[in-house]
Amino acid sequence: MCGITGYIGRENCTEHLLKGLTRLEYRGYDSAGISVYGNGSVRTFKQKGRIDDLKALLPSPLYGNLGIGHTRWATHGEPNQKNAHPHSSSSGRYTLVHNGVIENYEELQSKWLQNAPLTSSTDTEVIVQMIETLSLTGLSTKEAFIFTLSELKGSYAIAMIDRDAPDELWVAKNKSPLLIGLGDTFMSVVSDAIASIHATNQYIELKDEEIVRLTSSSASIETLQGEEIKRKPFKASIDDSDIEKGPYMHYMLKEIDEQPAVIRSLISHYSDGKGEIDISSSAKECLLKADRIHIVACGTSYHAGLVGKEYLEKIAGIPTEVHIASEFVYNTPLLGSHPVFLYLSQSGETADSRAVLVEMKKLGYPSITITNAKGSTLSRESDHTLLLHAGPEIAVASTKAYTAQIAVLYLVAKSLMKTTRDSSIKDLSRVAQSMEAIIDHKENYQALAKHYLLESRNAFFIGRAMDYHVCLEGALKLKEISYIQSEGFAGGELKHGTIALIEEGTPVIALTTQTGTDPNIRNNAKEVLSRGAHVLFISTENTKKEGDQNVIPSCPELLSPLLSVIPLQLLAYYAALEKGCDVDKPRNLAKSVTVE
Ligand code: F6R
Repeated sequence: MCGITGYIGRENCTEHLLKGLTRLEYRGYDSAGISVYGNGSVRTFKQKGRIDDLKALLPSPLYGNLGIGHTRWATHGEPNQKNAHPHSSSSGRYTLVHNGVIENYEELQSKWLQNAPLTSSTDTEVIVQMIETLSLTGLSTKEAFIFTLSELKGSYAIAMIDRDAPDELWVAKNKSPLLIGLGDTFMSVVSDAIASIHATNQYIELKDEEIVRLTSSSASIETLQGEEIKRKPFKASIDDSDIEKGPYMHYMLKEIDEQPAVIRSLISHYSDGKGEIDISSSAKECLLKADRIHIVACGTSYHAGLVGKEYLEKIAGIPTEVHIASEFVYNTPLLGSHPVFLYLSQSGETADSRAVLVEMKKLGYPSITITNAKGSTLSRESDHTLLLHAGPEIAVASTKAYTAQIAVLYLVAKSLMKTTRDSSIKDLSRVAQSMEAIIDHKENYQALAKHYLLESRNAFFIGRAMDYHVCLEGALKLKEISYIQSEGFAGGELKHGTIALIEEGTPVIALTTQTGTDPNIRNNAKEVLSRGAHVLFISTENTKKEGDQNVIPSCPELLSPLLSVIPLQLLAYYAALEKGCDVDKPRNLAKSVTVE
């Protein structure tokens, strides 16, 4: 949430900052800004809206060797020009960008800033004003920076320019992600390596409560307590081409199309080349000791977790619960003697999930993170990590990470069985082929979306058992990008209340991929059909009946979510496209939700 870029070096920083911000736009896009140092002053430009709106505001050329930039997802203060970052201190000496939430900013404001008029409604401005106030008492920039940081409660990733010392760029991090990029002629600071991967693939990871003084050729890292840190850079394994849209109009469609390749990539990462599953033995041993597995996740990852529970219980025989991360603290379950926590997170940065991890770690419970982001916070802080190998997911609506999570959970569950000599790897590779078969006919879903969804203000998805879990995900996809109010229901549950909402023409998508539940879901469909609903059946070669509008290939039933979610992703995509919505950047959302 919120994206930060910073640059200090020998070339002009403006291009670097803007390219980085464009790539970070998935993290928030309600306003954006940059500050550039040149000729003895810092020039700041900020604007409500997207990076393109900011670009339109910039003078050309805008030249400087030191600069910071920010793309915002508003937490404190409405998204407008005044609240956009960067924020400067009253004298203009300090200018900074911030990602995170300062919980005690009001307290700090009344303690330190009674005489400093604030110009925005943000928590961020308190930080920069406090640094200036402290520097006016005689503290050096470093001392004022450290003192201020040690007073902050909450999360922050910060990049700060001191106008009076333009050969340095100050950086700090706590809970919100931040990396230092090492170039031949520059140093950069970014929320995500994709922001400067065009310029370098060498990064240093920062840990919580660390500060950095960057110059154009050095990065000096210290803890807030003054301990010097030496840390080796790592090579970011993403390619510039992974983050380009290529021939696609939207990242979401590209990412839907990439799903067969992701399954194949998982097969190659998690098999031994001879058709047997190969999952890290330490993660396996950890899970085998569990008397109960607790899956913790949010949103789409939570929906993948619901499928994962089925695998861990039905295949591996380990009792499993799935928890919405933000609810865990209120509904902490009774824990047995050997609980194991499994965190599912595409980004590996989700604050709600991390909050649970931090608390459960304090209690000494083992943790495994399944994530797409190597080196992310959840990955670093867990005992074990299993990667999704899905490549960068840039559309805000998650697609390929969902199927990758399900595939990894399936492989994990299978690997826990006494014998792994089974057909899992072959089954998954057939699923990848069937995914392709569905995707090859994606235009069909444009016509279905137009016919069933466009005229309606709401839509229902019904299914039973595994199909119910997929319905929850299908409804989330549709609502988040097309703004059609959509809900997923267990087929049997509709008649207990929600059926009151069915009117003439209400779209109901009935998902039926399991032979055992097919007769029941067909009955539920009749209940809504007789009340005027327009029912769109999505069935498989095994469950199809005459008149079904969409039939997808069959596969082992436990794997069906990997296939059946694709029609729902495509329906959502085409509904949003037809409605003229911004598919990749739906309103009010951001991809990496780093605030609780
Ligand atoms: C929806 C979506 C979100 C995320 C959720 C958790 O399309 O992407 O619901 O799934 O914010 O994010 P991660 O998986 O990064 O923890």
